[in-house]
Amino acid sequence: MAGGRAAQQRRVSLRKAHDRGTVVKRWIGHYNERCYGKDCGKSNMSGVWPLNSVRIADIGGYLGQEVRIQGWLYNKRSSGKIYFLIIRDGSGFVQAVAVRDEIPGEQFDLCGALTQESSIIVTGRVRADKRAMGGFELTLTGLELVQLAEEYPITLKEHGVDFLLDHRHLWIRSPRQHAALLIRDEVTAAAEGWLRTNGFVKLDSPILTPAACEGTTTLFETDYFGEKAYLSQSGQLYVEAGCMAFGKVYCFGPTFRAEKSKTRRHLIEFWMIEPEIAYATQEDNMVIQEQFVSHIVKRCLENRRDELVLLGRDLSKLEAITAPFPRVSYDEAVKMLHSEGREFEWGDDFGAPDEAVISSHFDKPVFVTNYPTKVKAFYMQPEPGRPEVVKCADLLAPEGYGEIIGGSERIHDLELLEQRMREHGLPRAGYEWYLDLRRYGSVPHSGFGLGIERTVAWISGSEHVREMIPFPRLLNRIYP
Ligand code: 4AD
Ligand code: MG
Repeated sequence: MAGGRAAQQRRVSLRKAHDRGTVVKRWIGHYNERCYGKDCGKSNMSGVWPLNSVRIADIGGYLGQEVRIQGWLYNKRSSGKIYFLIIRDGSGFVQAVAVRDEIPGEQFDLCGALTQESSIIVTGRVRADKRAMGGFELTLTGLELVQLAEEYPITLKEHGVDFLLDHRHLWIRSPRQHAALLIRDEVTAAAEGWLRTNGFVKLDSPILTPAACEGTTTLFETDYFGEKAYLSQSGQLYVEAGCMAFGKVYCFGPTFRAEKSKTRRHLIEFWMIEPEIAYATQEDNMVIQEQFVSHIVKRCLENRRDELVLLGRDLSKLEAITAPFPRVSYDEAVKMLHSEGREFEWGDDFGAPDEAVISSHFDKPVFVTNYPTKVKAFYMQPEPGRPEVVKCADLLAPEGYGEIIGGSERIHDLELLEQRMREHGLPRAGYEWYLDLRRYGSVPHSGFGLGIERTVAWISGSEHVREMIPFPRLLNRIYP
């Protein structure tokens, strides 16, 4: 573990502090330790902007110097002649100490007047102080008010989740939300980075589409100049065209499911990254997925360790996530359920509790292969000699987080695909182009879709996908 034994002990005590609800203060120190310590540079929070200021994440490089920081007041306390201002700027938190008689009187008074989340520009000298957050503190030399914030609705006391979701535009400033969204950022950057490094071309798929990909029951319909159109449920059909042009492609964007499910795992609008590979079999597909997912987890451990700790994540569970991943067939999974006394009929789809039972047998994500044909989408290739099951796998995250990937080999034979479309009652008109892919140089091909929010929920150890996306769209919620 980076940082050695002392850092490990601090992480443990941070975890306990978190449990006692004092997480913010401790975390600030820990956060900065990462930024100033030997891990510095792994996640670059500064970059080329701002030109005339320093990001809090970087102030350790300015020891003894005066820096200018553009940020917001997170919290403050005072002891008569001194104000302690905790400032955040998106890259970190730092405490600035303002001493009466050391700054102009009106600036000292301004410290007293500042409200939570007021925007401020401060100058201060960077001091090393072992007791201070992360070992650094600012001695305030100047304070400029940009805007005095009105009474901030989110205080440090507890709020109900509906209230917080109504204030999502502000809630994302709070440390835990901020941390989860930084982990999301790392997940998407790692995913795209891995694909690019491995020769995949990004091919954006359309949001407005004439046809369904994942069944007609969850379509969002809209009017397209007098014609019916739907919001995309998946970019898959388009990346299938793409892989025949570029070999290995992926799309990454928002997808929409008008699902009437109000669960911890369902969003109405969620983000999915969908690789598609020409000539790949379902076996190849799973090898790609296990490499891909392990890489994403590794990157989060490297670059967002402190955010994971802030959220109370057990890092040892993530450290175990290395390829290869175990595989069980649907048939075997059903037996597992039966042996644990669960009622389940062969041919049904697994619910969240079933997935939790299956994944509880493993410390890593597990592929469940060969689902019954009738519970899966129309495009999946049947297993030779067993037409009742298809060449597919869902990847179930460990610790009960459920399905994070759905993937399969696709039907490449024109007649079989036409037959499946008839069986699924899909109108041919919107799919002629898709059938063309089976007319002109058709090859076996496979791909998968990884749900970003479910993946972030698993990696960050969060209960609900609604906090894994900046502005969740839920059943009964489209605000803010
Ligand atoms: O299993 P799904 O429906 O697969 C597809 O859409 C394929 N066309 C993907 C492909 O092969 N290119 O969805 C893939 C993943 C799920 O495993 C889950 O992680 C996520 O997308 N997902 C959702 N996430 C949040 N809210 C929902 N309502 C979701 N539905 C699916
Ligand atoms: Mg699925």
